Amino acid sequence: MEKIPASEITPEHLYLTRRQFMLGAGALALGTVLSACGVQAPAPTATPSNAGGVDAPQASKSSDELGDKLTPFDTVTHYNNFYEFSLDKEDVAPLAKDFKSSPWTIKVGGLVNKPQTFGMEDLLKFAQEERIYRLRCVEAWSMVIPWLGFPLSKLLAAVEPTSQAKYVRFETLLDSKQMPGQRDAYFKWPYAEGLRLDEAMHDLTILATGLYGKPLPPQDGAPLRLVVPWKYGFKSVKSIVKIDLVAEMPVSFWMTSAPSEYGFYANVNPEVSHPRWSQASERRIGELGRRKTLVYNGYAEQVAALYQGMDLRKYF
Ligand code: MTE
Repeated sequence: MEKIPASEITPEHLYLTRRQFMLGAGALALGTVLSACGVQAPAPTATPSNAGGVDAPQASKSSDELGDKLTPFDTVTHYNNFYEFSLDKEDVAPLAKDFKSSPWTIKVGGLVNKPQTFGMEDLLKFAQEERIYRLRCVEAWSMVIPWLGFPLSKLLAAVEPTSQAKYVRFETLLDSKQMPGQRDAYFKWPYAEGLRLDEAMHDLTILATGLYGKPLPPQDGAPLRLVVPWKYGFKSVKSIVKIDLVAEMPVSFWMTSAPSEYGFYANVNPEVSHPRWSQASERRIGELGRRKTLVYNGYAEQVAALYQGMDLRKYF
């Protein structure tokens, strides 16, 4: 698998810091970072116990509605962004393998009539459905993933947002004992994300509880993560413990970490470049060459109306 240079994926100052560190750490370590442009596929490591053991992963179809093939289970579960564990995508799965995602509760509150704390068993009562979505990472690679989950709108309806609620804010677990990346004081933990209420209520927006017919493995955000298929992958906050309905636009992890590079909306848009690279094309993991990036990641028909009249260069 072709890899993306670390310089492309890490906030610049952090990349430089890491690089300086690695330069100091000798030739072996240097190779680890700078060979990130290599073309070798990551060797699959042991399958985490709650990634389904030895059973063959299940999905109802082998492609999405555009005919794009599903990304293999092993790749989906061994090429991950989860900064709480590591900045290196291939290190996340082994580092997360003992993450304790049960028991788990999600506190839903803020501007709602019926604040509630849900156990995972409560959320699994919402009918779980398979949704095959393309995931387009801001780093210009993509995958096609068969998620299991339910529309976020069902959970929001249960807590009854008040008329003052305009946005939804999500928060990941804060536990640096289990998540070594949270000891990195450069970032402001916990990871947080936000959606406008109408985006959150849109039927495409789901809370995922599984993939390939199995419970989510830790590296993909066990036991519950957001999936918003028309936005860059970083909006898909993992291992959620808290959801608040709020009046003001939430400030996300990435808006805090690199404010000149990441905005609130993060809609996939081939015409708006990242300050350090183009978003016009992407590498589908497992394919040679590149494909053109589709506006709203190919979901324009369903979601473009949400942004009618907005200047998408300003609201990126
Ligand atoms: N959620 C948390 N809590 N921490 C993270 O670092 N990374 C995001 C998103 N959710 C991230 C996160 C990014 S950048 C991407 S592309 C997706 O998760 C990747 O999801 P995947 O590893 O399941 O493919």
